[in-house]
Amino acid sequence: MKVISRLATAVYLASLIPFAAHAGEVEVLHWWTSGGEKRAADTLKQMVEAKGHTWKDFAVAGGGGEAAMTVLKTRAVSGNPPAAAQIKGPDIQEWGELGLLTDLNEVAKRQKWDELLPSQVADIMKYDGDYVAVPVNVHRVNWLWINPEVFAKAGAKPPTTLDELFTAADKLKAAGFIAIAHGGQPWQDGTVFEDLAFAILGPADFRKAFVDQDEAVLTGDKMVEVFATLKKLHGYIDANAAGRDWNAAAGLVINGKAGMQIMGDWAKSEWTAAGKIAGEDYSCIPFPGTQGSFAYNIDSLAMFKLADADNRKAQEDLAEIVMGKEFQAIFNKNKGSIPVRQDMDMSSFDSCAQASMKDFKEAAGNGGLQPSLAHGMAASSYVQGAVFDVVTNFFNDANADPKKAAQQLAAAIQAVQ
Ligand code: GAL
Repeated sequence: MKVISRLATAVYLASLIPFAAHAGEVEVLHWWTSGGEKRAADTLKQMVEAKGHTWKDFAVAGGGGEAAMTVLKTRAVSGNPPAAAQIKGPDIQEWGELGLLTDLNEVAKRQKWDELLPSQVADIMKYDGDYVAVPVNVHRVNWLWINPEVFAKAGAKPPTTLDELFTAADKLKAAGFIAIAHGGQPWQDGTVFEDLAFAILGPADFRKAFVDQDEAVLTGDKMVEVFATLKKLHGYIDANAAGRDWNAAAGLVINGKAGMQIMGDWAKSEWTAAGKIAGEDYSCIPFPGTQGSFAYNIDSLAMFKLADADNRKAQEDLAEIVMGKEFQAIFNKNKGSIPVRQDMDMSSFDSCAQASMKDFKEAAGNGGLQPSLAHGMAASSYVQGAVFDVVTNFFNDANADPKKAAQQLAAAIQAVQ
């Protein structure tokens, strides 16, 4: 018996040797801390650990990631960045210019990233022609989340236009519900503003405003209308919205206290975590006036240069896992997003994800696919921050003038360019 157990121990230890030789540590900065998003992040942790590596969680709470970015800068300045950090869009170029990012070309070549990713996505992940980040998913920002039971009680209809949105909101309010569940934080105000801008300006002018930063569009009549509509919308949120986290706002809709939420599809992670079924317990519809268009927000992990070879191996394994089919399916089902790989079978995804993939492909062909400003895809975080300041000040000031706000928006963007 003793011999057998000694033998078993020896075999077990031997089996660990190949792992031990390459086991590294991978520290990952992210802000996926809500109940639903944590479930998604845990998938990555488990898959990294299954390869024998140690996962060091560097989670910094705060929706939209502003707090996480501040902490990352401090760590980078002190010469101690993590192995991987959720950095998105044009900011990847800024980190690349600092010379801090490492390349993932070998993994990318092995896994054929150039073939699996739409070229717009691949370009964002590259600095100077080298892959320096791995894309995790595609989130859509222009969604409206509805509790159909609450809508039915209020006699409200899912809206397809902005006018219908306010009609539904009036009915919800009259029936004693919070019409629009909102969290009063700058990035959430910015998300609602972005959806209104997408609807009112349309995809082409949305791009002119936030990618090209065209002054005529930023100060034009349509932008004034966006601010005027944002002001109107303020009348449909509750008095306790200030400072509320986005997942708490989602909770109000899930629990039947509110009728709807304007939010990107990470909101779905909360519905999923609560055991609710898309198309039955809740509906996801394109934000009114943006049907057929898609404001994208791609999460990605940028990789920092590391000295230790084992840690470098762990970093490469992390990238390979992220682009793998298994991770893309499990993670995105929990996160609310869709896979970034274009070759995935979507039949086991829910109806919201299937609609999202269909619209993504359609929008890519008709000019409707545009980068989210509020989620760091359209411009640098400096421009994003400048827009948030103007929007939040406007949203919280009952006397603010929409025309002046549009002028301030252009001036604020100009100042940080
Ligand atoms: C976005 C991010 C999403 C989600 C959301 C809420 O910027 O891309 O993954 O975490 O913020 O925090």
